[in-house]
Amino acid sequence: MAEQEIVLWPDLRLTEVCVPVEEVDLTLLADMFETMYAAPGRGLAAPQIGVMRRVFVMDPTWKDGVATPYVCINPEITARSDAQVTGAEACLSIPGVEAEIARAETITLRYQDAQMRMHENNFSGFAAACAQHELDHLDGKVIFDRLSTDESKRLQAAYA
Ligand code: NI
Repeated sequence: MAEQEIVLWPDLRLTEVCVPVEEVDLTLLADMFETMYAAPGRGLAAPQIGVMRRVFVMDPTWKDGVATPYVCINPEITARSDAQVTGAEACLSIPGVEAEIARAETITLRYQDAQMRMHENNFSGFAAACAQHELDHLDGKVIFDRLSTDESKRLQAAYA
């Protein structure tokens, strides 16, 4: 297991739609966690290390001293609250940029774990925002795609 290099914006791999996972790759999952914690971040999607498959890992609380690691394979949002919250988001692939993004406050996420067991969990607060952010990566979307055109241009210019 090894820390992997993080793919940085504007690498085109961050704009591609990933393909479903059919077989679990435990080494990939271990590498993703190692890379995420070392970064240090609270979520990492496979395309961020150049693997174009529908899987992300997240641990929304470890920076607060309590680890709650999740492996989310073939994730799908099956319900989302009408209520939205806006929070500051950063992305390991776009270092130095922070954007205020509106997301559903609560979501129901269906996904498979590292044993390919199916789960359907509700997430709210930061975990919900984190899951939505990581799922966006699997659809080739980054935080710039969740902003108004003006705000997106402004932040992209500042990043470049
Ligand atoms: Ni990101």
